[in-house]
Amino acid sequence: MINIAGIALSSPLVLAPLAGYSDLPFRLLCREFGAGLCVSEMISCHGLVYSQKKTLAMLASVPEERPVSFQLFGADPYMMAKAADILNNFEPDLVDINMGCPVKKVTKKGAGAALMSTPEIARNIIEEVVKNSNAPVSVKFRKGVDSKTVTCLDFAQMAEDSGAAALTVHGRTWSQGFTGFSDWQSISSVKKAVSLPVIGNGDITSYQDAQEKMALAGCDAVMIGRGALGNPWVFNSNGRPENLISILKAVLRHLDLMEEHLDVNRLLAVVKNHIGRYFKNLQGSSKLRRQVYESDSFTSLYQMIQKLLAQ
Ligand SMILES: Cc1cc2nc3c(=O)[nH]c(=O)nc-3n(C[C@H](O)[C@H](O)[C@H](O)COP(=O)(O)O)c2cc1C
Repeated sequence: MINIAGIALSSPLVLAPLAGYSDLPFRLLCREFGAGLCVSEMISCHGLVYSQKKTLAMLASVPEERPVSFQLFGADPYMMAKAADILNNFEPDLVDINMGCPVKKVTKKGAGAALMSTPEIARNIIEEVVKNSNAPVSVKFRKGVDSKTVTCLDFAQMAEDSGAAALTVHGRTWSQGFTGFSDWQSISSVKKAVSLPVIGNGDITSYQDAQEKMALAGCDAVMIGRGALGNPWVFNSNGRPENLISILKAVLRHLDLMEEHLDVNRLLAVVKNHIGRYFKNLQGSSKLRRQVYESDSFTSLYQMIQKLLAQ
């Protein structure tokens, strides 16, 4: 067991917040495969305050997935405070603040990674969320704004002073987006600069890789995003199986969880996005993936996987 912000985790491997992917069924699957904690998709503070249907759907949770972290995003300290207060009704174990997302739709409003260029607003947001949240608050941010403005050390200290209970650092700058590589040295520097638990993030592709990067940076835990898509085995020391049967069994488990917790026919695109990823880099994968993407209903997709398993 390790301890992050007062929460006991069975493993230091954490599922990253992934908009469009880290929904309840995927979080449950990753917990079953060994993840110690999963973070929700980013939740808009405005959506929460105005009770938007789509936003409220993102708060679906069940006791089996605990501990769970819900991630908030926004640029207005007042709205973030109100959203944190509303989140208390859902009793998350941890509340995370998104200060790392580089997507234009988010940054053009001053939220996500744009907050790294306005640290005073970021400070205000952290203080307000901490003040209004019953759960401990973590902050997820990047190495800096760009290669000339590497501010992660100051930013980390500011977050600690503002009452954050844990930090997640993605070792790319805002301007890098998802290009280049995550700089694990910068994550290591943040770990040395603060006394909070630090979760390192960026480019982990396997369980072994997670252990190596965690040791390299000396951080308390690591967060895995893209490397977990179609690959929940990333959380397990046995690694990804070689044989198709084991992969198909995991696919069926994921489909069962989606059927239980999602409106699968309305969200067929979400289902296909997840399932197609299991067949990446497998023999005959392009045909399998085409079959997935061409399925016209959840049932036909499910039956196709069952048929493959029976063969
Ligand atoms: C499809 C996708 C959606 C993402 N959504 C979020 C999000 O909602 N909140 C957030 O803080 N980061 C988000 N990220 C960033 C990831 O959490 C993570 O920091 C980044 O992908 C680097 O980690 P990785 O190399 O393990 O994927 C997203 C990334 C991807 C690829």
